[in-house]
Amino acid sequence: MGKILVKQLHLLTGKFDMKTIETPINILIIGSTGNTGSAAITHFEKLNIPVKGLTRNIAKAQKKYPNRNIEWIEGSLNDLESLKSAIKGITSIYVAVPVTENMVQLFNNLLVAASESQVDHVVKLSGLGAEKNSTSKILKCHSISDQQLINSGIEYTILRPNSFFQNILLENTYINRRGYFSLPMADSSQSLVDLRDVGEAIAKAIISPRFRNKIFNITGPTAINYHEMAGLISDRLGKEITYKPCSQDDSKKRLSSAGLPNWNADALSEIQHHFQEEQFSKVFDDLSNILEKKAKTPADFILDFFSLPKNLKPEPKRESAA
Ligand SMILES: NC(=O)c1ccc[n+]([C@@H]2O[C@H](COP(=O)([O-])OP(=O)(O)OC[C@H]3O[C@@H](n4cnc5c(N)ncnc54)[C@H](OP(=O)(O)O)[C@@H]3O)[C@@H](O)[C@H]2O)c1
Repeated sequence: MGKILVKQLHLLTGKFDMKTIETPINILIIGSTGNTGSAAITHFEKLNIPVKGLTRNIAKAQKKYPNRNIEWIEGSLNDLESLKSAIKGITSIYVAVPVTENMVQLFNNLLVAASESQVDHVVKLSGLGAEKNSTSKILKCHSISDQQLINSGIEYTILRPNSFFQNILLENTYINRRGYFSLPMADSSQSLVDLRDVGEAIAKAIISPRFRNKIFNITGPTAINYHEMAGLISDRLGKEITYKPCSQDDSKKRLSSAGLPNWNADALSEIQHHFQEEQFSKVFDDLSNILEKKAKTPADFILDFFSLPKNLKPEPKRESAA
């Protein structure tokens, strides 16, 4: 049994008060140390809802998140027995499958383990444009796994986000040292989304039955191209930062020299190139409907994640990424 802090309307006074109730939800986050899993845990912590986090290495997870007050469970999507043991007593799972050559197999292992257990709801992270004929390997894999989940008989929520604003933080070394960043996305616009909103949407999808057996396209409230993103960063940092589009090949070389396996470097540069398609500039209102508020804008993200120049007084950060 999990405990949830809920807002309750007092019928006599008409006022709300907070009460802790026992719930039958027992939540496991798979991908708990990654971008979206940790953003979801941050939101569960705000709601006072306990969750368990699967990781392949508890010591490493504790080192990365020393202040997390969650139960870590050691296991791997590659190891069916560890999965079966990790999901004993679990009723709801959030899963972000890592980008690897065998990502379809990894998700299938989870479905096998879940179908032999009392898990009744799986929230799966997919990707915007996950279609079986996609020219992106990653999106094709997501499309296969999404369909397997739909066919499994387990209740599902499939979240298909566009790229995260926070991906640009991976370019920080370039931005700081050289004053520019490069991506193979030409001049195309994308309706990028904030990871903090994705984390909150995951938590809401787990808690509320309203989002079951549905697929959601998760985007930010506006489409922006990377020249405009560079402009916003420049204004915030008080110095000129530019975006220099590069080729898919150059991006692959850079990812490979950063140590990524060949399949990953190929698949990531491919999907970045694929984002030039018009569908990735579309704005959907699924996210604001789930959150019941406006999704974060590019300007919100830049304000919170890029600091003011040292000679100006920094503003306090509103919220951290994860
Ligand atoms: N980046 C984007 O803009 C974007 C947008 C839309 C969708 N996506 C999708 O997001 C997914 C990745 O999610 P993310 O960005 O939240 O994660 P992430 O930051 O890439 O981190 C990967 C997570 O997977 C865990 N992991 C790796 N191998 C594992 C295994 N064998 N068994 C169990 N856990 C394993 C890692 O945990 P430990 O190391 O602790 O075990 C870590 O928590 C991908 O499917 C991608 O297609 C990404």
